[in-house]
Amino acid sequence: MNNSKSTPTHVAIIMDGNGRWAQLHGKERYEGHIAGVEAVRASIKAAVRNGVKYLTLYAFSTENWGRPDTEVSALMELFCKCVIGETPDLVKQGVKVRIIGRRDRFSDKVAEHLNRIEQQTAEGDKLTLVLAFDYSSRDEITTAVRHLAQSAAKGELHADDIDERCVANALYTAGIPDPDFIVRTSGECRLSNFLLWQASYAEMYFPQVLWPDFTQEEFDKALEEFAGRNRRYGKL
Ligand code: IPE
Ligand code: IPE
Ligand code: MG
Repeated sequence: MNNSKSTPTHVAIIMDGNGRWAQLHGKERYEGHIAGVEAVRASIKAAVRNGVKYLTLYAFSTENWGRPDTEVSALMELFCKCVIGETPDLVKQGVKVRIIGRRDRFSDKVAEHLNRIEQQTAEGDKLTLVLAFDYSSRDEITTAVRHLAQSAAKGELHADDIDERCVANALYTAGIPDPDFIVRTSGECRLSNFLLWQASYAEMYFPQVLWPDFTQEEFDKALEEFAGRNRRYGKL
């Protein structure tokens, strides 16, 4: 395990390219998502091995509801299958799962699986795996602003006391340190509504590899890239 300063505490990944991977292999899009599960396993293993403490995976954006029903259903079904299949291994590896995003638009079955994976992995102390599911950063910030305004209206909070820490604590990611390193696979160079507040000083990396081809070696390569970065935070 490497806990040197050059290892990021928090790695966040936009897992992109499943559809293109499927197309490249003459398969249906949902088969690309299924193939992507192996890359999730590899990333978790590599994160634990490297001493990364938080791994956030962008699994489903609020905008992804706009995809065809068949694809959305396949993704929800895959998520439930993974919760059942992967939970024992996550527990063994000391992984604690936390879900960020809206919770009010899932079917009862999916909501139940979300709760189940959080409860069953609650004791994990090696790695916190943050799954962004029905997540969008603008929705997160808007929800936080609404809650702060409600607290102020009730007299629990003075507007003058609202500082950056207060805002951060009202986000879904409360208590989770900001990502040091954001990786997006498939060569797309955009954030697509992911961790906009939290990404203020994150290093970014956009490898060409499609998500299903992202292996432990690719994860290690990404960490090598991070280790070569010079973070200045606006200073000299
Ligand atoms: C990422 O792969 C997975 C999700 C968004 C759920 P895509 O499905 O976006 O794959 P491409 O971008 O079409 O290749
Ligand atoms: C971002 O990927 C969302 C996830 C990886 C879950 P998309 O494929 O949905 O993003 P755009 O549409 O290319 O920006
Ligand atoms: Mg995509």
